[in-house]
Amino acid sequence: MNEHALRGRQILITGATNGIGLAAAEVLAARGANVAIVGRSEARTKTAQALVRAGAAPGATVSTHIADLSTQAAVRKLASEVLARYEKLDVLVNNAGAMYMSRQVSADGIELTWALNHLAPFLLTKLLLDRLKASAPSRIITTASDAHLGAAIPFDDLNAERSYRGFGRYKETKLANILFTSELARRLDGSNVTAHSFHPGLVTSGFNRNNGLLMDVAMLLLRPISRNVQKGAETLEWLAASPDAVSTNGRYFVDMQARLPSPEAQDSAAARRLWEVSEAQCANVGSSSESGS
Ligand SMILES: NC(=O)c1ccc[n+]([C@@H]2O[C@H](COP(=O)([O-])OP(=O)(O)OC[C@H]3O[C@@H](n4cnc5c(N)ncnc54)[C@H](OP(=O)(O)O)[C@@H]3O)[C@@H](O)[C@H]2O)c1
Repeated sequence: MNEHALRGRQILITGATNGIGLAAAEVLAARGANVAIVGRSEARTKTAQALVRAGAAPGATVSTHIADLSTQAAVRKLASEVLARYEKLDVLVNNAGAMYMSRQVSADGIELTWALNHLAPFLLTKLLLDRLKASAPSRIITTASDAHLGAAIPFDDLNAERSYRGFGRYKETKLANILFTSELARRLDGSNVTAHSFHPGLVTSGFNRNNGLLMDVAMLLLRPISRNVQKGAETLEWLAASPDAVSTNGRYFVDMQARLPSPEAQDSAAARRLWEVSEAQCANVGSSSESGS
């Protein structure tokens, strides 16, 4: 980890109230970064802020934002707050995510896993892109997963109305994270802004603890083969700080090594198509602040 690369850098990290995001926020602040934590619960976000502050390097700031990222209005409000508050944004970390075993829809009428895991990073990144470009060299990091293996984007059933399986849907959204990142990197060519995604490993965190007793038991059984959140956050921290991480763009990383994702995740036509349909899915939901970014 290059500590000098982090000192004074402004990092925004979603899903930083628990798990991988919280562990990363603690390390990044301890190494001198100014960390802005995004959480959906005021109480959990304040608790995380106190934890991160307790170990932060002298002079490092730890600020908070409250947003339920499953709704586009909240993503837009968050982006406006961020643009108003930070003149520079050096690193955006799209990390918040979840799996839902039963189909639910967001306040915008969009299937919840898709809304939270894919559309929130897509929209937040787009809304903050000019600031990231003005802050270049800057970085965009998205927490994906090896769960994408074997998935394909259901372009004919994007809202999962015809069929829904919790893990299958989660896999599609993690594939979407990788395709989004590669298309984003293509669009960022020449801007000195890099975009990477990564797999944190199987991590003991709050993940899949929202799906009832059976899933709680499954996660407990997986514990012996899972890593802790500190280990799970290492690649994120490396992507935020290392000079080596910006020698390429649009790549997928596992344990700080660039890896080829699945063939579906390398499909540049699917990546472009996903970008277009995602733009439409965001345009369909009232936007007053996007034009102002
Ligand atoms: N754990 C694994 O084995 C694993 C493996 C591969 C990839 N991942 C990915 O890693 C990322 C982080 O997950 P984790 O394992 O650290 O799980 P986690 O402990 O459950 O943390 C998830 C974070 O996302 C936040 N979040 C959930 N729904 C939200 C919403 N609607 N609006 C705003 N924030 C919301 C949570 O906030 P609350 O505190 O409010 O719940 C929490 O801070 C996810 O993208 C996940 O897909 C995890």
